[in-house]
Amino acid sequence: LDAIVRIYEASIPASERKPASAIREMARRPEYLLIAATDNDQVLGFAALFAPPDEPFALLEYLAVDESSRGQGVGAGLFTATLQAAAPHALLLELEAAIGHDDTERELRRRRQAFYRRLGCQRIIDLHYQLPLRTAGVPPAMHLFVHRGAITTPMTRADLGRALRRIYSDVYAKSPDDPRIAEMLAPLPDPLSLA
Ligand SMILES: CC(C)(COP(=O)(O)OP(=O)(O)OC[C@H]1O[C@@H](n2cnc3c(N)ncnc32)[C@H](O)[C@@H]1OP(=O)(O)O)[C@@H](O)C(=O)NCCC(=O)NCCS
Repeated sequence: LDAIVRIYEASIPASERKPASAIREMARRPEYLLIAATDNDQVLGFAALFAPPDEPFALLEYLAVDESSRGQGVGAGLFTATLQAAAPHALLLELEAAIGHDDTERELRRRRQAFYRRLGCQRIIDLHYQLPLRTAGVPPAMHLFVHRGAITTPMTRADLGRALRRIYSDVYAKSPDDPRIAEMLAPLPDPLSLA
């Protein structure tokens, strides 16, 4: 767990990070799964999955690989393990929009999106995801992506609304009636467009 926390703090931007104690807490919460990629005793990376047993979705809350082990397939392997843990449900993930004035940062965001797209994730079109975290300033513009596995039925606005209410309340300790949820849902088509 110490190694996971170290990778977490080094890899995830401060404005998108909860306090380290929240990661430690995930190891004890039954609706969370922490998955570590290891080589002998060394932790190379981890995934934090919020997977409430009474919901038809899971949220990949964090995925990070130690800088020295990136680009070797560890992240893809962790993502595959996460998908298997979430199955048969849809897997949601919060990703920074590939915009911004800083060229280096924008390129990293683009690569990250490319990484998840290669693994089969799609963006929920027109959704301006509001990450309700205020730990170190306002987080950047975000998208919500989804991996639907073998699910072939369309994803509806009601499906998303239910997931957002649960995420706001159980992942971010906000009200399930937070007005930002209605704001996010209002402009969306029903069923949702994914691309
Ligand atoms: C994104 C990340 C998990 C990928 O893990 P990985 O083990 O390097 O991934 P793989 O080796 O399986 O795949 C490599 C791909 O990951 C992405 N990637 C690699 N290093 C990256 C970095 N520093 N930043 C963003 N994406 C990166 C790229 O798409 C890369 O493919 P490319 O070299 O063709 O551009 C890892 O780079 C990371 O921890 N980044 C910082 C934390 C983060 O962005 N987490 C996701 C949001 S919670």
